[in-house]
Amino acid sequence: MNTPPLLVTCGLPYTNGPCHLGHLRTYVPADTYVRYMRRSGEEVVFVCGSDNHGTPIVISAEEAGVSPRALSERYHRHFDETFKRMNVLFDRFGMTDDPATHHRTTSIVSGLIKNGYIYKQIVHQAYCTKCKRFLPDRYVEGVCPHCGSQARGDECDQGCGKHLEPGEIKDPFCKVCGTIAEFRDQEHYFFKLSGFREFLLPYLDTLRGTSNAKNYAIGWIKDELHDWCITRTLEWGVKFPGRNDLVVYVWVDAPIGYIAFTEEWAEKAGKDWKRYWCGENRVTHFIGGDIIYHHSIFWPALLKAAGYGVPNAIVASGMLKVDDHKFSKSRGYVVWTNEDYLDKGLPADYLRYYLLAYTSHTKELNFSWKVFSERINNEVVNIFGNFVYRTLFFAHKEFNGVPSCPVDPAIIAEIEKSLVNVDQLMREYEFKGAVDAMMALAAFGNTYIQTNAPWKLIKTDREAAAQVIKNCIQIAKAVALLLEPVMPAKAQECWTMLGYNDNVSNYPIREAVHNIPETCIKVPVPLFAKMEEDLVKELDALLQKRVAEANKKVEKTPVVTFEEFQKLDIRTGKVLSAEPVPKSNKLLKLQVDTGGEIRQIVAGMQQFYKPEELVGRDVVVVTNLAPAKIFGIESNGMILAAGDTASLLTPLKPVEPGSKIR
Ligand code: 2FM
Ligand code: ZN
Repeated sequence: MNTPPLLVTCGLPYTNGPCHLGHLRTYVPADTYVRYMRRSGEEVVFVCGSDNHGTPIVISAEEAGVSPRALSERYHRHFDETFKRMNVLFDRFGMTDDPATHHRTTSIVSGLIKNGYIYKQIVHQAYCTKCKRFLPDRYVEGVCPHCGSQARGDECDQGCGKHLEPGEIKDPFCKVCGTIAEFRDQEHYFFKLSGFREFLLPYLDTLRGTSNAKNYAIGWIKDELHDWCITRTLEWGVKFPGRNDLVVYVWVDAPIGYIAFTEEWAEKAGKDWKRYWCGENRVTHFIGGDIIYHHSIFWPALLKAAGYGVPNAIVASGMLKVDDHKFSKSRGYVVWTNEDYLDKGLPADYLRYYLLAYTSHTKELNFSWKVFSERINNEVVNIFGNFVYRTLFFAHKEFNGVPSCPVDPAIIAEIEKSLVNVDQLMREYEFKGAVDAMMALAAFGNTYIQTNAPWKLIKTDREAAAQVIKNCIQIAKAVALLLEPVMPAKAQECWTMLGYNDNVSNYPIREAVHNIPETCIKVPVPLFAKMEEDLVKELDALLQKRVAEANKKVEKTPVVTFEEFQKLDIRTGKVLSAEPVPKSNKLLKLQVDTGGEIRQIVAGMQQFYKPEELVGRDVVVVTNLAPAKIFGIESNGMILAAGDTASLLTPLKPVEPGSKIR
């Protein structure tokens, strides 16, 4: 049977804010993968689009005083232009509010209703009496029922990361006006997700992509799988069939956008979109690590129920940090693609290289201007740039071009080794490994030219010098061909300097082992400019200024009266024992003496403290918090800690456990 064509997608950016490094961490590797696979002979279609529906857009549009459509169009254009500036080139970049997604969503949801996958149920949903409306998703904040962290209506974004269903959030308050919300009954529609456990378990077992996506999903599904509420009380979105007052949840129509964008592309290209989505397929989703749940559980179940093919691979990127802090727009730990980078005249290729080469795709990537400039200067400029310049300078000066002798077979063998290595790593989504292997070939070239010193040889043996430089030119050709998916613009410049007058992207990767023709080589110019210290300082200062300004802004939280505050019972405690919670990499189970009683408390501190570091510590505990079950373990109280690294609050002078905080 024919292998189906490859369809690669990227998580859709919401149209409520500009493009930042967090987006690029997914899009750049996806673009690199697509370029590489194409040049390895695969038929690949690459689609994406903007995510226009849902509460994030409605809230931002209200704040900006424009319609959600107008806001979406503005940011849609912004993303489209930014991706092009970054050389991330989609075959189709659509909008989920365009007719194709509306149509495909209505068709899929109607099919699900017809086939009995959807039922009606009353939900106790948060309602704001002041704004006089129901509070879907991001309109409401409160406390996560699973871990006790501050959470958004549809997601525990600061704690355990769990998806929250309407009505699940505890102590809800209206995000718009701060009023404490009440629960009111409302009719909603549910998708019978619980019936898909038996399908999902073996499916996830064979799912390709990165192991984080698969393991995370398997971890969730081993617990219970609840039915999924797929409607929301909003005006903006795709109407739920037969209900003018409800739209489908944005997490239904957004991934359906992947199909719709393929349809839009196919119509223009004269192709059949069904080849990509119906039956056996090779749909590969590149996504951020925060949306694994949606792509590996909801989405395949929905596709299966609707009779479509299910995704073949999910490639999820790891977390992003800026200056060692969790990426956060509100706290200023953000790098905006245009304002902070491209508009400063910095080459897209430097950032592409950094994003790919910093660490494995699934690991945490830390951005700092200092490390960025060091890696660019030490690797891209000194290794690749230097090698190409030395080679071409000598070839031009002494031979005015490429010498005619054949390339040494040992050099071809070395290139062949790199090709095999890169190919394996790329297909395993090990982009860092692949880029390292490409750079290793450039480093090999550098050592080769240094050891063989053609500038000395030429004085005694012109032919031998010609052979050395021919070998170097062949290595430079191979590196340009290999690095094109990573640094397309710089690879093209290198290609042109090698004497070609066409596009490097038109050549298959395997062209690297074919002898370079006898082109004429002009005076080369350095491929890369160093990142100067002054510029790095200036860029860093901008980031620090943004963080300082963000710190000054007070977060919007509801006002509490003194009486309400007094309801909290906060006391000192002493940690008696601490141990990791099995199967969790975040949680610790603690026994804490809170004066006269010993409480069991589950806290998300495993990443920051070894259990033994906590034993014997005096801590501060909210003791009258309603008990919660976290990972199946009862937790009675909350230990107070500050900041991203959970710095523990502790009394300055020794006090008895159980002392009241006032
Ligand atoms: O989390 C997000 O930013 C969403 N806009 C991603 C949607 S991806 C998809 F499923 F459409
Ligand atoms: Zn939580």
